[in-house]
Amino acid sequence: MKERVGKIFSKMEEECDAIVLMNGQEPMLDASFYYACGLDSGLFEECTAILLPDNGATLITSQLEESAAKNSSAEIITYSTQKERDDAIKDVLKNSSKIGVNSRGITYSSIQHLMKIINDVKFIDAGNALIKARMIKDANEIEKIRSACKIASAVADRIPEVLSYGKTEYEMAAEIGYNMQKMGASSTSFDTIAAFGKSAAEPHHLPENYKLQKSDMGLFDFGCRISRYCSDITRTFAPIESSELFKKVYETVLNAQSLAIENIKPGICSADIDKVARDHIDSIAEFKGRMIHSLGHGLGLDVHDGGSFSPRSQIILEENMVMTVEPGIYIPGWGGVRIEDDVLVTKNGCELLTHAKKELDEVRIF
Ligand code: GLY
Ligand code: MN
Repeated sequence: MKERVGKIFSKMEEECDAIVLMNGQEPMLDASFYYACGLDSGLFEECTAILLPDNGATLITSQLEESAAKNSSAEIITYSTQKERDDAIKDVLKNSSKIGVNSRGITYSSIQHLMKIINDVKFIDAGNALIKARMIKDANEIEKIRSACKIASAVADRIPEVLSYGKTEYEMAAEIGYNMQKMGASSTSFDTIAAFGKSAAEPHHLPENYKLQKSDMGLFDFGCRISRYCSDITRTFAPIESSELFKKVYETVLNAQSLAIENIKPGICSADIDKVARDHIDSIAEFKGRMIHSLGHGLGLDVHDGGSFSPRSQIILEENMVMTVEPGIYIPGWGGVRIEDDVLVTKNGCELLTHAKKELDEVRIF
């Protein structure tokens, strides 16, 4: 925990006396709270962590989470009423005149409340520092992401066994989630996307009661959590009788992904990785402009953990960042293909963390 707190303060552009991380009620929970306190379990609704520049931290927790809080090396204060919580916050912050808050993780009502109970202090934004600290994963975080990726990959490889004509998108999403938890995941990392046929043209399609037809492709985008850390994988399965268009789209997406992965290494600007994949897709006239999203994103405690491969992202890649690489081509009225893998940036390149099969011959629906 101390190392993480030190890392967060080292990323602050402006010094401050304390950083306050406040959880609201589910789903308004701040992943940075769990990151800083090193908490693998527990919900911690309405709980607060106060980080100090000497690398110490105080966790002000409700009684509900008292036992889970013991897993943190932070100093623990337990409250049973809101007044007790507010008094504890005021006490820990009594010598602070400049306080960092996480603009990306605190609700409007929490910041209003904090401003009401703490007077005469300046609040500054610690959001970027938290994102920067979280982008570089430590060994413990990498191990958890690796496990989450292993499970998602194994479940992706089993999709042809469970996918059959007449099954609905709902059923497939449920089976994928069930299989990941059966293998030891604590939950899915986001609502599973299962899109058949034309619906695969919609990158974030929500499953429906639609049954797989013989001419449909099947796109599945899913992931799971291990001790809060996420995996995120997409595989698109080809109908048994694939059209020439499907083959061309599939091979173009797969090649775009390989080119991007080959170029990932420390020191490269993230926009350049997006460009390699996008240029490859755009070089084929009929697919130009059909990759309608960024190439990828950071992955960690949040499925979109900060940082991205996009035309606008100026992040310089560093060792131990974990990113997704997910090119896609979407053709309205026809369908789409996306292939997504997770990579760990290493000293000289990157390591693939998801290993599910993805050659065209390996992703057929029978
Ligand atoms: N896997 C869903 C997304 O990255 O948006
Ligand atoms: Mn993704």
